Amino acid sequence: MKALVTYHSQTGNTEKIARAIYESIHFEKEILPIREVKEIQGYDIVFAGFPVQAHSVPAAVVPFFKKLPPGQKIALFCSHGSLRGGQLPKQAVEQAIGLAAQMKVLGTFCARGQVEPRVIDALEKSVQHQAWAEEAAGACGHPDAADLADAREFTRSILAKLGH
Ligand SMILES: Cc1cc2nc3c(=O)[nH]c(=O)nc-3n(C[C@H](O)[C@H](O)[C@H](O)COP(=O)(O)O)c2cc1C
Repeated sequence: MKALVTYHSQTGNTEKIARAIYESIHFEKEILPIREVKEIQGYDIVFAGFPVQAHSVPAAVVPFFKKLPPGQKIALFCSHGSLRGGQLPKQAVEQAIGLAAQMKVLGTFCARGQVEPRVIDALEKSVQHQAWAEEAAGACGHPDAADLADAREFTRSILAKLGH
């Protein structure tokens, strides 16, 4: 068994979740930023994560999903400033599932990630971002220990689907 944990992270939140996932895997594994992934071959499972940006998968991550080999088993994770379980991050996860249409998506996990105050100030002025910018202040301190515990539990549930 071999796993790849890969992530895009601008301010470190998604990377923290990626590291919690990585630590929960007890067989051959690699962890790499998405931009450093050259070839996706020979992995039994790929955990791929990104921050939600403008309700979407960041543009920099889209080509990665497009070049995953058909049939590849993947688990998606993301961090977002808006409330957990809300409709807003779901949109981005659904977009990622659409991009990975040829893959076997075994599960998804989302946790809140704190947003820099200067970013909130800037985004509140934009109509496109108002909906989540109001919620973003409450993400301060996330991902926290409970979020990372949830990420480890998510990893266990995915590995159980692979017979581990
Ligand atoms: C330009 C920009 C756009 C963002 N758009 C959204 C958004 O639409 N919805 C949301 O919930 N969070 C949004 N966020 C907040 C980030 O998703 C959140 O802070 C995330 O945890 C950042 O992860 P990172 O540290 O791995 O980059 C945005 C952040 C930035 C900087």
